[in-house]
Amino acid sequence: MAKINKNYLKLQGSYLFSRIGQKVREYQAAVPDAKIIRLGIGDVTQPIAPGVIRALHEAVDEMGKSETFRGYAPDLGYEFLRSVIAGKDYREQGCDISADEIFVSDGAKCDCANIQEIFAADSKIAVCDPVYPVYIDSNVMAGRTGAFDSAAGRYDGVVYMPCTASTGFVPDLPGDAPSEVPDLIYLCFPNNPTGAVMDRKRLQEWVDYANRHGSVILYDAAYEAYISEPDVPRSIYECEGARNCAIEFRSFSKTAGFTGLRLGFTVIPKDLEAGGDKLWPLWARRHGTKYNGAPYIIQRAGEAVYSDEGRREVRQQVSYYMENARIIREGLKEAGYEVYGGVNAPYIWLKTPEGMSDWEFFDYLLTKANVVGTPGSGFGPAGEDHFRLTAFGDREETKEALGRIISL
Ligand code: MLT
Repeated sequence: MAKINKNYLKLQGSYLFSRIGQKVREYQAAVPDAKIIRLGIGDVTQPIAPGVIRALHEAVDEMGKSETFRGYAPDLGYEFLRSVIAGKDYREQGCDISADEIFVSDGAKCDCANIQEIFAADSKIAVCDPVYPVYIDSNVMAGRTGAFDSAAGRYDGVVYMPCTASTGFVPDLPGDAPSEVPDLIYLCFPNNPTGAVMDRKRLQEWVDYANRHGSVILYDAAYEAYISEPDVPRSIYECEGARNCAIEFRSFSKTAGFTGLRLGFTVIPKDLEAGGDKLWPLWARRHGTKYNGAPYIIQRAGEAVYSDEGRREVRQQVSYYMENARIIREGLKEAGYEVYGGVNAPYIWLKTPEGMSDWEFFDYLLTKANVVGTPGSGFGPAGEDHFRLTAFGDREETKEALGRIISL
């Protein structure tokens, strides 16, 4: 008799953004005239940059000619893309990463979710709270957690590291006692959802901690392109010793507007080990067995992001979104809200008004202002009474949404 993976039954409701999407669809059906502005899921709105579009067209034409047609992509990604990533994202920034340590994929979400497969089933995981839900949910599915404790809003067996205003939205290091040391530590900076960053010195302390205890840091750097301050590291490999303790995830989604095209990559240094075993061959084996690679045309589009023209154009897009972030941040502050983030990240994290929970605030904004955001508790219990707005909207809509919120 077939049986299900019962770990799935531990999951809470639907995926956060699916639940929000459903609520918004229901409201729109009930109030068809409502002009809803979506600042919930961090999805981009600017079109793909012209230099990237040209590369896409050229690659499509190549697929239509027998002499340039391509079938299956190489397991780990095309060399032309892996080399340009290693050169421009890492070596030019002083990080010792080579092309064959880069695994091209169809996005950071899948890689962040799948990476846990190469670690022991009884690994103890640590996550920030609030946190991008994919890290926890994928470990729940794999049976690496206990049941959900609804009073605490947490899964048993997971180390939650609160990131609140009192910690500057950066987690404290776990203890050094063996019972307190996590095996796998998920860090995401610039942070989704709070928009906080970790400075170089602090990240170095995490790298030292992981090396001291044999932990592996799973470092999600999907929002690296939004960093504007000099002391904020763009890659964990800027820290000494990170090659021995860290895997890094990057995405073209937010950097170059590829949420619909799908492209990302994971960096696993060849010398990185867990418990004396190398991790690179395991992830290579997994890619070979379970994945046929991002499409050729998309990898060519990714390559074009690194050309002089592509870089200029995607920087303009990032500036556009960061101006949205500034508008939201300053506007809300002036209106008396307690606001965080939005300086090195495209997310604004705000405290909900006195006496209103985050889900109540979600309903209030949706019904009174027709604006969609994301309730903080959807990212974990420490996110309660907070709310996330994204800067990825269209400029006029962003201004309109802000005007509606502050006039409530
Ligand atoms: C978010 O809104 O948190 C992200 O867009 C979700 C994602 O990148 O999967």
